[in-house]
Amino acid sequence: MKTAIRRQMTIHTEVMDLLNEQIALEMHASAAYLAMASWCDQRELVNSKAFFYKQAEEERGHAMKIFEFINEAGGAAISPAVPVVNNEFESLRAIFETSLDQEIHVTQSIYKCFKKARSVDDFASEVFLQWFVSEQVEEEDTVRSILDIFDLMGDMPLKMIDERLPTA
Ligand code: FEO
Repeated sequence: MKTAIRRQMTIHTEVMDLLNEQIALEMHASAAYLAMASWCDQRELVNSKAFFYKQAEEERGHAMKIFEFINEAGGAAISPAVPVVNNEFESLRAIFETSLDQEIHVTQSIYKCFKKARSVDDFASEVFLQWFVSEQVEEEDTVRSILDIFDLMGDMPLKMIDERLPTA
């Protein structure tokens, strides 16, 4: 049997379209985290910069996971446009607040993909997306915990707050 005939598209096209949008969103998140890492790096906020460099890598990893899944499922993964991101921030706290907003937005988008997969009986995509649902719970929780540290230590110098933040 020829490869072209053997290759079957198991992913539903509507799910594939949403997942391609999700790839773009994850790549945008990666670029946004890189800008945050740079801001922290320039100010020698050692823990915060390590945190955001790692986040930037992780988001790229999420995008690649979806990218490979789409192609494995017989669909067509689309390499997204290079995103434009904000590189100016008011404060470290503002960066973490932006980070939480970004994670909440990503979570909502994952839910949208998940609901679509379920509604069109695309079971393989639904199972694939379960990992992302759990991952988002963890990511939101991490940033919320960091913002709690800011609430507790709001008046301390920036570097002292940075020293108390996790690097990942
Ligand atoms: Fe891949 Fe933090 O969303």
